[in-house]
Amino acid sequence: MRPLTIIGNWKMNGSLAANQQMLETLLTQGTQTLESRCHDLPIRVGLCVPYPYLPQAHHLLKNTKVALGAQDVSDHPNGAFTGDVSATMLQELGCAYVIVGHSERRQYHQENDTLVARKAKAALQAHMTPIICVGETEKEYEEGKTLVVVRRQLQAVIDLLQGQIASCIIAYEPVWAIGTGKVPTPAGAQEVHRELRLQLATFDAEAAAKVAILYGGSLKADNAKELLAMPDIDGGLVGGASLDAHEFLALCQAGI
Ligand code: 13P
Repeated sequence: MRPLTIIGNWKMNGSLAANQQMLETLLTQGTQTLESRCHDLPIRVGLCVPYPYLPQAHHLLKNTKVALGAQDVSDHPNGAFTGDVSATMLQELGCAYVIVGHSERRQYHQENDTLVARKAKAALQAHMTPIICVGETEKEYEEGKTLVVVRRQLQAVIDLLQGQIASCIIAYEPVWAIGTGKVPTPAGAQEVHRELRLQLATFDAEAAAKVAILYGGSLKADNAKELLAMPDIDGGLVGGASLDAHEFLALCQAGI
């Protein structure tokens, strides 16, 4: 059995004051939720915050049930890469998770499948869990290319990581569902998750049974229950709804 995993992605949002309030509310109001078990396993909760807020969030979250994560990482270990941040730096700042290949990185920063795989490898080398995002655009969805696209994106990662894929988290985020209020039907999302797991299984059945596959895209407390009840949907990668402590806790609660 896989643990319920709920990861927030704040994207480029927040301020020192707002973050402090959000995190303090989350920890004081969420004690019971954050300590819940699901399928007899402790739930996993994390928040991926913008780089400048990592020290603040690390300070407030250390020794709590909420793990810290970043939203991107360089594929290089160090050197002349102005503006980039290495996996070791993130690990030093307390990150357990790092998102790689988010569609906003693919779209606005031209990140391709090979680069995304290299970033996942860099994260693993620094003992962090990469959350590897895959997902089709609206056009690809309409053209019926969803499975072709997500399989291609996942295969690039399997090819580079090989056995290390067992230590990753995959997130299926249909681009057309991100920030739009549109969500696939639970059965539609389940089908994609199932296909991704079957693809992992053709490489390594043990890894496929272990890897958490999260759903992301307009996930809210009021639509999470049905999606998270699907057998191959192991949790959520949550954008907008992770900025509000009460909404985020309600969403976690919906999955339990
Ligand atoms: P929303 O939940 O705001 O749609 O964002 C999803 C997402 O991109 C999480 O990574």
